[in-house]
Amino acid sequence: VLGRRAVLALLPLLLVATVAAQAGSGPASGGGDPFFPGAGNGGYDVRHYDVRLAYLPPRSLPGRGRLGPSTASIDAVATARLPSLSLDLVGLRVDRVEVDGRRARFRREGRELEVVPSAPIEAGARFETTVRYRGAPRPLTDPDGSEEGWLPGHSGGAVAVGEPIGTATWLPCNNEPSDKATFSLRIAVPERGLGRRLRAVSNGRLAGVDRRGRRAVWHWVASRPMATYLATVAIGDFRVEKRRAGGVPAWFAIDAGLLRRGPATRSLLRRGIRAVGPALRFFGRLYGRYPFEAAGTTVVDGPGAKLEYALETQTRPTFPGPPRRSLIVHELAHQWFGNSVTPRIWPDIWLNEGFATYSEWLFRERHGGPSARSVFAKLRRRPPSERFWNPPPGRVPGPRELFAGSVYVRGAMTLEALRLEVGDGIFFGILRGWAQRNRYGNVSTAEFAEFAERRAGRQLDALFDRWLLEPGKPGGGAGAGAPARVAARR
Ligand code: ARG
Ligand code: ZN
Repeated sequence: VLGRRAVLALLPLLLVATVAAQAGSGPASGGGDPFFPGAGNGGYDVRHYDVRLAYLPPRSLPGRGRLGPSTASIDAVATARLPSLSLDLVGLRVDRVEVDGRRARFRREGRELEVVPSAPIEAGARFETTVRYRGAPRPLTDPDGSEEGWLPGHSGGAVAVGEPIGTATWLPCNNEPSDKATFSLRIAVPERGLGRRLRAVSNGRLAGVDRRGRRAVWHWVASRPMATYLATVAIGDFRVEKRRAGGVPAWFAIDAGLLRRGPATRSLLRRGIRAVGPALRFFGRLYGRYPFEAAGTTVVDGPGAKLEYALETQTRPTFPGPPRRSLIVHELAHQWFGNSVTPRIWPDIWLNEGFATYSEWLFRERHGGPSARSVFAKLRRRPPSERFWNPPPGRVPGPRELFAGSVYVRGAMTLEALRLEVGDGIFFGILRGWAQRNRYGNVSTAEFAEFAERRAGRQLDALFDRWLLEPGKPGGGAGAGAPARVAARR
């Protein structure tokens, strides 16, 4: 079964990661992700983040905003006895750490905050770590060269996106996709900064806005499990509108700068927003009920802000400018595949991007566009010599290729190949069953292959091997001379 082979392929990486984690900065540091061995922390499981950020805009432009005294309270359960524990945190200044209300010693080391509670935490115990911190968050450059984390907005605001590891630039956290938790985020902003109104947007539903003098505290609550990479904060001159979309309360935040840009931009925004309800309903019918308590979109003025790409931030995707309909559809499909059903480790990223891309094809097929089958057939004709085919989506060589085109497109083709093999009835049952059975959970490629095989009642080894693992064009012969390598791994 692919399962075993895929796991075997990853084994050396996992070993390296484990050793790195042990040799690394300390106790239970490093969650063991093959691509980001330093991120995440074993030894505990976070249940809830209670975050209070005090945002201070820059005094002039260009300039970066800062966080004044802020706190993160992290409610977790120890999975081992913990004489100490670590959180992921990049930059910023830590003023004080408490564990269960008692002052704890702490130390910064690289991208970790190491905490030594006054007494060891026993395995199985629930405990709360409170970190008081401040400073000017800085973005990170991803392995693929794009910027993530806390990015400066244009007009004194900021926008935070965290895939894969940017959230640690503004929040001490267990930064790995397998440790999901609920979030409460209170973001205090001055009502005006640099002459502009400021508002703060985040995940989930808006629980309230507390106006105190010249400051307002925006309180957002994400009450379903969320991976840290899907947490977001957007601060700026947004128009925030609440309405319903797809039967769910939805908040739409649009950068006022875009609204001033003229009728063409405004109609683009309107068309995008109008697609949200139908897309949520469409995927709800296909994959099962929408998994979250709120919806919406955040549209920032991309070029002014340093945001370069759209992200499926949980419940409320973030876009760097007015999104095309297909992009909205893509990010909304991620709410099922990626956000509710999340890969346990980053090398399985095609379970996000392949599924979201295939969802775009399905949406188009059912809304007057070409069929997924014809999109597939056309792509299938691309010559084996093209780079288009690499890397194979189930065998991403490293973090630099996490978001390679093939992860998206060949990942989606894998699903169409499966559909052609098992037929529509079984295929749609697989997609829906996968989304429902793993709701709010974490998954692997091997589990998907097994799940599909069980639903189809037959071996699908050859198909998944060919589409997910074989370098070059699947069954393409000439191209990478690859079939031999797949065979050699048996
Ligand atoms: N997951 C995002 C999407 O919807 C893309 C994130 C890109 N991130 C990056 N570091 N290049 O496709
Ligand atoms: Zn995507």
